[in-house]
Amino acid sequence: MQIADTIEELRRIRRGSEAESWGFVPTMGFLHEGHLHLVRRARQDNDRVAVSLFVNPSQFGEAQDLANYPRNLERDLELLRGEGVDLVFCPSDEEMYPAGFQTYITVEEVARPLEGASRPTHFRGVATVLAKLFLLVRPRRAYFGQKDAQQCAVVRRLVEDLGFDLEVVACPTVREPDGLAMSSRNARLSAQQRAAAPVVFGSLKAAAARIAAGERDAEAVRETMRAVLDGEPRARVDYVSVADPETLEELEQIEGGALLSLAVFFGKIRLIDNLPIEAGDRPL
Ligand code: PAJ
Repeated sequence: MQIADTIEELRRIRRGSEAESWGFVPTMGFLHEGHLHLVRRARQDNDRVAVSLFVNPSQFGEAQDLANYPRNLERDLELLRGEGVDLVFCPSDEEMYPAGFQTYITVEEVARPLEGASRPTHFRGVATVLAKLFLLVRPRRAYFGQKDAQQCAVVRRLVEDLGFDLEVVACPTVREPDGLAMSSRNARLSAQQRAAAPVVFGSLKAAAARIAAGERDAEAVRETMRAVLDGEPRARVDYVSVADPETLEELEQIEGGALLSLAVFFGKIRLIDNLPIEAGDRPL
């Protein structure tokens, strides 16, 4: 496994392998099974696999959230070695954002609601860092988790609009046995918050069951999600949403597919999750 911490080094390694197909998994490190599923999928589909470990400052709103983001480079490298990864890119902040940096990429409509409304500069940071990483790594395929459904939609738009020659592959959300979606942020939950956190997936399942039972009024489904969350005093709702799966605009009626999603605070830790509902889904 080769490790590059500068752009120059990454370019040098990448130039030595022009004929092979590269799969790329961008991450912010502190890896868990969710990330490793993406790596395994990339390993299956491609000749070479590259992973980036970079806690991207430009996608964080609060400096405190950035400072608190968990990190463990040595452990991450060990895990990636175990998965047969060929190349790890772990640049410094200065390497990715040199002095005087002032070029950003803004994806518009699809980045505006949900996470974009709660975290206004978030997707500008995501789109900018991913565009830069795509230009450097030049992957044939890039792998993303359905866990961050809006991020997947933003990346698809970015790739389509700027004409990146790569395929965006979205992979299912990996969950703990009690349903909690795996996230690097889970490590920051107290024992009591961790015990309460499965309510997030619980509210999605209750909403899905309501739709499966025939409910088509989106507001009634949002109410179901809120009611489940209200039952857990440690959970504070940021948003609940029943949206069009492509545009992410809120629905009034559920006619085709829908994306159920939510963001919930446990103390200062903000967790997100979602459940896509297919057009043909019928009673459970
Ligand atoms: P990060 O949160 O580290 O996530 C890296 C990738 O792992 C993302 O595509 C995310 O959706 C996926 N992932 C996280 N938890 C998952 C789970 N439980 N199941 C399946 N996939 C999961 O997302 C980012 O980093 C950053 O925004 C990034 C794309 C790297 C840009 O900085």
